[in-house]
Amino acid sequence: MMIVKATIVPFFLLLWASSCRASADIEEFFTDLEDIPNPSWFSLKETLVVGENSYGPAYGSTIQVNHDAVQVGRYAHREISRPTALHSVTNSHVSPKDWDQMSRWYQEDGNTQVFRLFPGDDTIRNSRVNAPRSEAYGLVGWLRGDGWFEWSGRYTFLKVRPGAVLQIKHNSTYWSLQLILEENADGTFDLKYVKLRNISAKTLLMQDVVGKGVDIRVLDDGENHKVYVNGELKVTNKMTDRPEGEDNRARWGLYSPKSAMDRDILMFVTGAYVGPALEESDDWTDPETDSPKNIWGFWGGFFDWLVPDKVKAWFSNRPGFDSYKEGSADLLALIEKLDAEPDPSFYDKYYSNPDNEGYGYL
Ligand SMILES: *[C@@H]1O[C@H](CO)[C@@H](O)[C@H](O)[C@H]1NC(C)=O
Ligand SMILES: *[C@@H]1O[C@H](CO)[C@@H](O)[C@H](O)[C@H]1NC(C)=O
Repeated sequence: MMIVKATIVPFFLLLWASSCRASADIEEFFTDLEDIPNPSWFSLKETLVVGENSYGPAYGSTIQVNHDAVQVGRYAHREISRPTALHSVTNSHVSPKDWDQMSRWYQEDGNTQVFRLFPGDDTIRNSRVNAPRSEAYGLVGWLRGDGWFEWSGRYTFLKVRPGAVLQIKHNSTYWSLQLILEENADGTFDLKYVKLRNISAKTLLMQDVVGKGVDIRVLDDGENHKVYVNGELKVTNKMTDRPEGEDNRARWGLYSPKSAMDRDILMFVTGAYVGPALEESDDWTDPETDSPKNIWGFWGGFFDWLVPDKVKAWFSNRPGFDSYKEGSADLLALIEKLDAEPDPSFYDKYYSNPDNEGYGYL
């Protein structure tokens, strides 16, 4: 009896201690107001449209972000990038006017985006199953030759599972850069860089990420890319075979395919920006220095204020920075492109290949 107690008690103590540690670590970052019920996927699904894009509704309890703990670092003061759309399990393109109906999966609080998923949640908008996600994507695209473009923001990882948290994609099948979460044998998660077609290009960016925040900055010029972690350059690499004329686009949040969701997911991204590369400032305490509005300096701001969007579009021969308008032909064409089913030969070659496990997420 004594022996049993001697082994069991410490075992339970350990379990108790580890569960305390996990919850204590993340609770300082938010409060779940529990003001709206979060139904089980089983009962919610009964009310949703299956087989085509729909807008739910899929409401969820309000997550109140603890700004003091979350909105820190280089991007703390930056407003969330626009124009941005949401890709949820029911719809590949949800524009801001419909985000309230997706509060189960996406919310904003101050400069912070809240990405959430629940057990069972899975794609129902098309026939592709086992591809749960809550991702935002920038409608800003860039081509080779446009110069350096940037995605930057601060991740706070709270409840996670393996998947992609940042991707640069140039068509519906191919990505040129992914940052992923990988699970270790001890249940901790690491943030890694992974490059298409080169498994050795996986680079550890941050260890044991749950309960931590990290500033990520990615630069891409349609050919080369760089990844900075907390201001430090960690990866320089390239993917040169992106076809001419295909826009590169950034998406972030959690995309976690291979099975329906099996747990609660909660991740924050603060100060997300997509657009022409910004000057990195040394003074991150000044909310103005890293403001996207200031990228062209005073005269850029003046131009922006003076010139109507229509006139600005004449200067550009393609839809680009800030030029997608709700319901416009350009936007509809873009959505169609993003909605295209991935290339089946790609699946066979890379994704369905067991050696490719963890190599990247389509
Ligand atoms: C794969 O990536 C590694 C690490 O970045 C690099 O050293 C190597 O040259 C790459 N191989 C190919 C074939 O691109
Ligand atoms: C997407 O890009 C890849 C190369 O990165 C290219 O082989 C493919 O043809 C492109 N288009 C589609 C629809 O996959």
